[in-house]
Amino acid sequence: MKKLIAGNWKMNGSLAANEALVKAMLSSLGGVGTAADMALCAPAPYLAQLQTLLQGSPIVWGAQDVSAHEQGAYTGEVSAAMLRDFACRYVIVGHSERRQYHGETDALVAAKAQRALALGITPIVCVGETLAEREADQTEAVVKRQLAAVIHAVAHCTSEIVVAYEPVWAIGTGKTATPEMAQHVHAVLRAQLAAATQHPERVHILYGGSMNAVNAASLLAQPDIDGGLIGGASLKAADFLQIVVSAR
Ligand code: PGA
Repeated sequence: MKKLIAGNWKMNGSLAANEALVKAMLSSLGGVGTAADMALCAPAPYLAQLQTLLQGSPIVWGAQDVSAHEQGAYTGEVSAAMLRDFACRYVIVGHSERRQYHGETDALVAAKAQRALALGITPIVCVGETLAEREADQTEAVVKRQLAAVIHAVAHCTSEIVVAYEPVWAIGTGKTATPEMAQHVHAVLRAQLAAATQHPERVHILYGGSMNAVNAASLLAQPDIDGGLIGGASLKAADFLQIVVSAR
């Protein structure tokens, strides 16, 4: 299975900056080839721009959140059908920043994953423990609880999701889980998937949290790390592409 390197721009960018960044990536793709599958997840207002810039290229695009509701009186929300209108291939759900700052529960994240799948969009389901949870030896319990909610909701479609293990203490902090620490949790998640689907090997389990051009190769060399969810480093064309090359 090819690895998947997905950028998460978070709330960054502008029409001008996005165009410069994407064009820089596309112009350097020759040296990268198709070492890995590539995706960029942008703020919703820029999805039309990404569709224009990336259509026909090897890079697909996606969103960073989706409503659990189908349509209607939900001011400010963006539906899965709207994401599909802009040909989104992926949507991130349950990012720790949404769980933390927007009160998203396991049940809501599961409903969002289900809604995305219903519209043919692959949810990138984020799980991960806080520093306090790791120190209290709760890492496995936390990630298993978070993933279990999604598996319960999507049931027979479990093999169609992407999982991203993102230890909260490693996000945007420059602190990365060691490859061994990350691999340990990925193996736990793989075993949990194996109990829920006949094809656990088909599920990409990405690592995220300060993955960069320097540390990517050692993380991506682990047997159960099938790619990366890249925040800060996805805002620099050279760094993002170096991570893609590391996935070879
Ligand atoms: P980071 O973010 O690479 O900047 O740590 C990763 C993420 O939050 O998806």
